[in-house]
Amino acid sequence: MKLAPSVLSADFARLLESCKKVEEAGCEYLHLDVMDGHFVPNITFGAPIIKSIRKEIDMIFDAHLMISDPDKFIPDLAKAGCDIITVHQETCIHLHRTIQNIKANNMKAGVVLNPATPVDTIKHILPDVDMVLLMSVNPGFGGQKFIPEVLNKVKELKRMIEEKNLEVLIEVDGGVNSSNIKSLVDSGADVLVAGSAIFGMDDINKAVQDLRNAALGR
Ligand code: DX5
Ligand code: ZN
Repeated sequence: MKLAPSVLSADFARLLESCKKVEEAGCEYLHLDVMDGHFVPNITFGAPIIKSIRKEIDMIFDAHLMISDPDKFIPDLAKAGCDIITVHQETCIHLHRTIQNIKANNMKAGVVLNPATPVDTIKHILPDVDMVLLMSVNPGFGGQKFIPEVLNKVKELKRMIEEKNLEVLIEVDGGVNSSNIKSLVDSGADVLVAGSAIFGMDDINKAVQDLRNAALGR
């Protein structure tokens, strides 16, 4: 199980300091929520800010694009130092082309599904992606309540990946905390995004340890 702290819940005035704390706590991924105020009702940040943090942080940069026209921004996000880009199935009319575009820019590629989007809608793109991100809240904001139906989606997706003998990672995003993390890992999730459960806590190191212990059932 790998942890992907979402900087959306960090204090943006102390962004670098917060990123350093999760890196020191041993988190593997840095989850970067890029929002355009169009696909989702919120605006966050883009390539320039990612590029600035990249100079100081060695974690895997995992950019979750909640934007209507992701293709337009892929080259700049590559130059900014993103390692993985995930795009929403719901916004990509030509999903196969967008996935190839991410790979052509030398990054890993993933697809994201909103809570209401069925897993079988990505059956035919699964062999082309490195990761599938299942949303366990409606995208746009941190600190929302976990939608438990995602557990069935994780299990179904895990079966699809195993049946086809693929090496696709399953990431889950939204409302992940120490009471649901074990059920997610047991269902087959590999990468767990956590915003408020990490950056919303006073002691980041303890929050990370609590999540890891909870995932192991301790
Ligand atoms: C929601 C974002 C999430 C969010 C998670 O649109 O994609 O990454 O930051 O925050 P929590 O863990 O607080 O639900
Ligand atoms: Zn996210």
